Amino acid sequence: MSFFEIKKISKRFGGVKAVTDVSFTVQEGEIFGLIGPNGSGKTTLFNLISGFYKPNAGSIHFQGNRIDGKEPHQINRLGVARTFQVVKPLKRMTVLDNVMVGAFATATGPKEAKAIACETLDFCRLDHRRKNLAGELTIGDRKRLEITRALATKPALILLDETFAGLNHAEQDDSIKLIGRIRDSGVTIIIVEHIMKVIMNISDKVHAINFGETMAEGTPSKVVSHPEVVRAYLGEPYDHHA
Ligand SMILES: Nc1ncnc2c1ncn2[C@@H]1O[C@H](COP(=O)(O)OP(=O)(O)OP(=O)(O)O)[C@@H](O)[C@H]1O
Ligand SMILES: [Mg+2]
Repeated sequence: MSFFEIKKISKRFGGVKAVTDVSFTVQEGEIFGLIGPNGSGKTTLFNLISGFYKPNAGSIHFQGNRIDGKEPHQINRLGVARTFQVVKPLKRMTVLDNVMVGAFATATGPKEAKAIACETLDFCRLDHRRKNLAGELTIGDRKRLEITRALATKPALILLDETFAGLNHAEQDDSIKLIGRIRDSGVTIIIVEHIMKVIMNISDKVHAINFGETMAEGTPSKVVSHPEVVRAYLGEPYDHHA
């Protein structure tokens, strides 16, 4: 039994086929990149995995449990956390309180929630912002808060949806390091990202979709040189030296 497996998953919205017959498996400890053009179904896949949408067909298994059809909080309890592409921190709450919301997933009381939150803020190098209101953060710190809040639920699998969008180069490099630390701490990662430098740098395996259907899967260098991926997504072959 695989750590995580999607089998022939499909999702329609009225006449729109957002995801059709997508299958993939993720091994424990892997960083798995999910790429594709705008509107190709990446966020929909995350919504299916995390229980926000129910599939029209197919199944999703995580650590031996069938999770499709379960509610988002049940799937989170089983060890799957996600970030949102459009980050929505509770702006009038402090950074610490935002992370405590995540920590309450496993904590037995406020004291423990605070301890988990502080530890996770420390791990994510966001502890210096803990007294700030979430609404005062830069986009880079907001994205990091989103990851911190998801990690505070103590997942075994984390889904990162464009957590590099809007970051400057220094912040991107810091985030690449953070993702490495998350993986080293034993958390498996599925990452949706348009910045190819990030995908090429950190993914063990890449799965490319277009119009909700699989185009290619394999090592990052294999997938970015796949003719259909180049035509439908990259526009031109990926230049490893650029
Ligand atoms: N709740 C919804 N209701 C109707 N259509 C939806 C819904 N969610 C997604 N879609 C449609 O499903 C398709 C896939 O959208 P999705 O957001 O999954 O794409 P994406 O790959 O995440 O794109 P992006 O890179 O722009 O974030 C699009 O055609 C979108 O309009
Ligand atoms: Mg999306």
